[in-house]
Amino acid sequence: MNAATLERKANLEAESDTKKPSSLSLNRVDAADAELKAHFSHCLGVETLFTRQLVSFQVSKSEPIYRWFKYKEAFSAALVQQLLRKDDLKPGKVLDPFAGSGTALFAAAAIGFEAHGIELLPIGRQIFDTRRVLEVEFTPSDFAALQRFANEKPWQQSTVRVAIPTIRITEGAYSSANVEAIEKFMAAILSETERVQQVLRFALLCVLESVSFSLIRMRAVCAVFQCSSAPAGSKPLLSSPNAR
Ligand SMILES: C[S@@+](CC[C@H](N)C(=O)[O-])C[C@H]1O[C@@H](n2cnc3c(N)ncnc32)[C@H](O)[C@@H]1O
Repeated sequence: MNAATLERKANLEAESDTKKPSSLSLNRVDAADAELKAHFSHCLGVETLFTRQLVSFQVSKSEPIYRWFKYKEAFSAALVQQLLRKDDLKPGKVLDPFAGSGTALFAAAAIGFEAHGIELLPIGRQIFDTRRVLEVEFTPSDFAALQRFANEKPWQQSTVRVAIPTIRITEGAYSSANVEAIEKFMAAILSETERVQQVLRFALLCVLESVSFSLIRMRAVCAVFQCSSAPAGSKPLLSSPNAR
């Protein structure tokens, strides 16, 4: 094919692309976006206070609960508080209809707002329920029970197991040793209060991915990749003590 034919072919392809429904929809989104921007242009501006550090969820990762479970869609607590304080709003009710892991709700509650939230995903609910239980309902003996679990690891001696439910994609996700440990753990927590059970179940949820084959395999792949491309003698990027 000569250059002129190639160019004609490319033009024809580009023309047919723009006629595809997906391109048409994207064009409409772009047009709606431009219309919205024009409509609100009088009140749009660049807020220099919003640094990457303030806006990013990374800061919240130093907080308990948030550093246990990485819910990447979460907002930064500092950003929410800054926005609520910005216009001297008087504390009242706040509704977050997309509550995620509840960052905005807890940030608002911490400065006196009555916070309500709606969240679609059960994991979000697990995160903010656990945080509420720990911050509001936990008693000194509940904390002592957690400490005992951490020190004595009572599930290791458990003779009872609670079967973990599976769905197709979780079948075979764990080694048999890990399934046994998880099921013994689920049985051992049953003798604790509801509050302690909630926190311990959440703690288990937070480590499930790291003890599953998917992460172990990913680490193994990274280690192999690192070994094959790294200079002789250098260490793997991720160590993989459990890789099999
Ligand atoms: C960006 S995150 C919210 C972050 C949260 N506001 C915070 O303070 O960290 C958006 C959340 O909206 C949830 N969501 C999406 N569609 C929803 C719906 N129809 N009803 C309730 N929640 C929904 C998602 O599951 C996701 O957790």
